Amino acid sequence: MDFKNIEVKKEGKIAIVTISREKALNALNAETVTELKAFFHNHWRDEDLLGVIITGAGKAFVAGADIKELAECNVISAEEKMRIGQYLMHLIENFPRPVIAAVNGFALGGGCELAMACDIRLASEKAKLGQPEVNLGIIPGYGGTQRLARLVGRGKAKQLIFSGDIIDAAEAYRIGLVDEVYPVEELMNKALELANKIASKAPIAVSKAKECINKGLDVNLSNGCDFEKVSFSTIYGTTDCKEGLNAFMEKRKAEFKGE
Ligand code: CAA
Repeated sequence: MDFKNIEVKKEGKIAIVTISREKALNALNAETVTELKAFFHNHWRDEDLLGVIITGAGKAFVAGADIKELAECNVISAEEKMRIGQYLMHLIENFPRPVIAAVNGFALGGGCELAMACDIRLASEKAKLGQPEVNLGIIPGYGGTQRLARLVGRGKAKQLIFSGDIIDAAEAYRIGLVDEVYPVEELMNKALELANKIASKAPIAVSKAKECINKGLDVNLSNGCDFEKVSFSTIYGTTDCKEGLNAFMEKRKAEFKGE
């Protein structure tokens, strides 16, 4: 599939996906959502890909769902649009490789929701984040009410969503909405550095750890720990597990193969 709204560049085993609809501050219209879905579907089993970085072209990460399209929705099409958008967020959240959001600028509404569906959020000092949907008479619909409360707690999530306030990167870091903040010119290098560091670890172990953390947040502690235990023992069927443990014993660096 040829992409019109996203650009994909491979840096070694890391894919950099840049949302490129600058004239609309990278707002997620239906076509962009379809292209992002296609990217993640196409690479679901790509063994040559060990991490994804999502960023935005120009001054925005993503300024939200496309408001012009939202203005045309009715009760039925609004639900359908949110179903498709939420599906994309689930796809990213459950993608078997780590997905890092490099939040370069505005991450509002669906843009903040996209960043929250990623595993780790790195922001530039110029980033601005928020869920301003109430200004439009609507609410977040790509999972924002759910993921924001899980990330920053219910009080802060309510404060942000009820007020529609847009916060800067320092405040987003303070409340735990982003994990690191860097000068603009360093953001992509830092994102690549982190993605490559993770890519140097045992890929199946990283993937299983992601699954455990995600699943665990949806269930009680005991069930989460049960899932972790089963995942832990499953990893014993991999070559990389033997390699990692043997390399330690033999005092050498492990060579992981992703098997
Ligand atoms: N959808 C469609 N177009 C958008 C857009 C969006 N979310 N955000 C910005 N644009 C467009 C503008 O309409 C404008 O286009 P024109 O030049 O054709 O008028 C262009 O991008 C540049 O935007 P501005 O001139 O407004 O740029 P600015 O620097 O003055 O302001 C901004 C930047 C504060 C981000 C402002 O654009 C803004 O408030 N955008 C809307 C943010 C928003 O409300 N997002 C939530 C959307 S709803 C949602 O996402 C629901 C959900 O949960 C799924």
